[in-house]
Amino acid sequence: MSDTTRDAKPGYATETILTHSGRRPPDQFGFVNTPVYRGSTVLFESLDAIENQTAPYGYGRVGNPTSRSVETLISELEGAEGTVLAPSGLAAITTAMLAVLSTGDDVLVTDTVYDPTRRFCDGLLARMGITTRYYDPRIGAGIEELMTDKTRLIFCESPGSLTFEIQDLPAISEVAKRHGALVMVDNSWASPLFYRPLALGADIVVHAGTKMFVGHSDAMFGTASANAAAWKQLYDGHRQQGMFTSPDDVFLAARGLRTLAIRMKEHQARALELARWLEQHPLVEQVLHPALESHPDNALFKRDFSGSGSLFSIVLENRPRAAVAALVDGLELFGMGYSWGGYESLFLPIRPHRARTVTSWPEDVCMFRIHVGLEDIEDLKADLSAGLDRYAAITG
Ligand SMILES: Cc1ncc(COP(=O)(O)O)c(C=O)c1O
Repeated sequence: MSDTTRDAKPGYATETILTHSGRRPPDQFGFVNTPVYRGSTVLFESLDAIENQTAPYGYGRVGNPTSRSVETLISELEGAEGTVLAPSGLAAITTAMLAVLSTGDDVLVTDTVYDPTRRFCDGLLARMGITTRYYDPRIGAGIEELMTDKTRLIFCESPGSLTFEIQDLPAISEVAKRHGALVMVDNSWASPLFYRPLALGADIVVHAGTKMFVGHSDAMFGTASANAAAWKQLYDGHRQQGMFTSPDDVFLAARGLRTLAIRMKEHQARALELARWLEQHPLVEQVLHPALESHPDNALFKRDFSGSGSLFSIVLENRPRAAVAALVDGLELFGMGYSWGGYESLFLPIRPHRARTVTSWPEDVCMFRIHVGLEDIEDLKADLSAGLDRYAAITG
């Protein structure tokens, strides 16, 4: 199994873990950071060494000091027994699901799940004889009614990354435990800085590391971490699938992670300020941000999260396509693109009604998902304000 040695002393705050865990300068000739270790073959010094497998690394695919430094750091942040890395967030999710599921199993997945996760469940998992049923993200303890003796996994994403429902994870986990099912949580939005799913009863936590961990839109990356109960299955499944993540990307993730705390706090402050400002704008019908008092899950959010992410959505009165084009095409600071989590702001038209099957969402609304980057907040407001003026000007 991979070394889960805790490098920082227990009891340190998250900011200290982020800066000190997972690196050991004496092992790197005093250099502060663990460099990029590229390689496949690892040479053994003697017959004893190869027979007894005492060396820390035996073959490139199975790990190297670059990957291990980030595994150690994430495990410590999430309070996990161990962590595996993946070449994208989606790969972390699919690897972890395949590691714990077998033909005949039943999976419960939140209806607000990231759409490619849904496609994996409805595609590959279905072909393998694993059924997926979707549930209302606000179901809470009511999930009990959906449990069968085949239910092996409950997948949560809190908040949902388009419509931002918060899930009652302790209630769901309590039901899962009684039924012998595992709980897996996509924690990409809050990061371990603001949300600790394993401490709330989950067994596996996954991250689209492409987002906040990398933080600079320059690498693809994912992680899956498990508690003691699920770790062996996750580790074995990851290894059996031959999953390997480029050390160059892992290095970029490590570099991003060192400043995660300071970036998350800046993203949080700007996103909240922009969300509150948009709430007052006459064209904005609704702002979907769980840290706002107006959000239906705000009490649950305050109970379980210690902070909020960079991402939220807004609803505008539906207008012709030309109005939407006038808004988005003229934006100077907000870019339009998939993903999020980088230092630069994004503004993306979204159609949530297309990606759900058991809960409804109106079709005739105009929605945008906003990732608030690290630009000056007044510049961001001015850019959006001008965009909303262009939107209003089309229909008067
Ligand atoms: C909530 C969430 N989970 C998972 C993913 C998948 O991550 P990746 O794009 O790195 O595969 C994304 C990507 O947008 C996401 O937003």
